[in-house]
Amino acid sequence: MPDPRVVLLPGDGAGPEVAEQARLVLELVAPDVEIEEQLIGAAAIRATGDPLPAETLEACRGASAVLKGPVGDPEFDAADVRPEQGLLRLRAALDAYANLRPAVSGDIDVLIVRELVGGLYFGSSGVRDDGTVFDTCEYHPNQVERVVRRAFVLAQGRRGHLTSVDKANVLETSRMWRRVVNEVAPDFPDVQVEHVLVDNAAMQLAIAAQQFDVIVTENMFGDILSDLAAALTGGLGLAPSASLSDSGPGIFEPVHGSAPDIAGRGIANPAAMLRSTALLLEHGLGRPAEARALERAVDAALAARPTPDLGGTATTGELGAFVREQLALDPAAPAP
Ligand code: NAD
Ligand code: IPM
Ligand code: MN
Repeated sequence: MPDPRVVLLPGDGAGPEVAEQARLVLELVAPDVEIEEQLIGAAAIRATGDPLPAETLEACRGASAVLKGPVGDPEFDAADVRPEQGLLRLRAALDAYANLRPAVSGDIDVLIVRELVGGLYFGSSGVRDDGTVFDTCEYHPNQVERVVRRAFVLAQGRRGHLTSVDKANVLETSRMWRRVVNEVAPDFPDVQVEHVLVDNAAMQLAIAAQQFDVIVTENMFGDILSDLAAALTGGLGLAPSASLSDSGPGIFEPVHGSAPDIAGRGIANPAAMLRSTALLLEHGLGRPAEARALERAVDAALAARPTPDLGGTATTGELGAFVREQLALDPAAPAP
């Protein structure tokens, strides 16, 4: 077997700053893994005119896993070719449909499973002759079933509770979503299922998130609820994600964006990117021991060297350096 290869996409804004820390940590805990850097987003538009150049996509397709920083740059917000299009194309091309967004802190331990390659993000859109602008939310039942089954399996491995979030009181797609969940449920008798409307789900998350175990929901609801869940556990600087397909490489990236307001100052919190690296070690490379060691090191670093978003003064590099020191001390981590 050839050595595993990780494609690192540093992205835009604060992306390269946090991606550098991820690279240094990955080199330490998985020295046999080849790391190949490629462009995506605004950086790729500037270099090639395309937010997902063919070379990047080719490299990602052939990789063991993709480790991605955030994309996005205010300069392109109103452009026809935008950084975010590269990300959406990558997710679709790799069929990374199951987006796992864990939020853990104190008595809160929620796993949001967000459908990632359907819904409003990928339905037909455009402008009608009369000037009306439209986006459409479209789902095929098979797209719903596969992500729902994943969520059931994940709930089985946790506390056995699954909350399906929808807007079935208004949307056709949500009524179909709810039907599919109910059809799949008998295959998982050990999982307790409930349906919650998305507006109430947001409120329940805000006031009593500890009631949730696994939440499964469609693409846009999951986007919004996962930022809320991140806020409950200390902010966007902490929240990782894993986007998995049924075969082929997963994409591992922070929930946060390119943070243009703090980019270039060396103060972005690298924890979300490093926790995404831990998810990559676990789900992308099958190395749970290294993943746990990295998670422990990140927890220790957040306590000892908090960055400004957490009320501290540590720089991106200082937090990253502390993580690597912890890893070097951890007997369970592989020797550097
Ligand atoms: P954002 O997540 O970039 O920033 C929101 C707030 O959180 C800002 O105040 C920012 O400083 C803070 N923040 C984010 N990450 C942080 C970190 N690591 N450490 C400390 N503070 C952090 O969201 P936004 O401002 O709405 O979006 C900016 C750009 O990012 C947009 O172009 C958007 O499209 C893009 N974006 C990309 C991704 C992605 O690539 N997966 C995700 C979200 C947003
Ligand atoms: C995220 C981001 C992306 C999304 C954007 C940048 C396309 O907000 O990963 O949460 O909406 O999926
Ligand atoms: Mn988002």
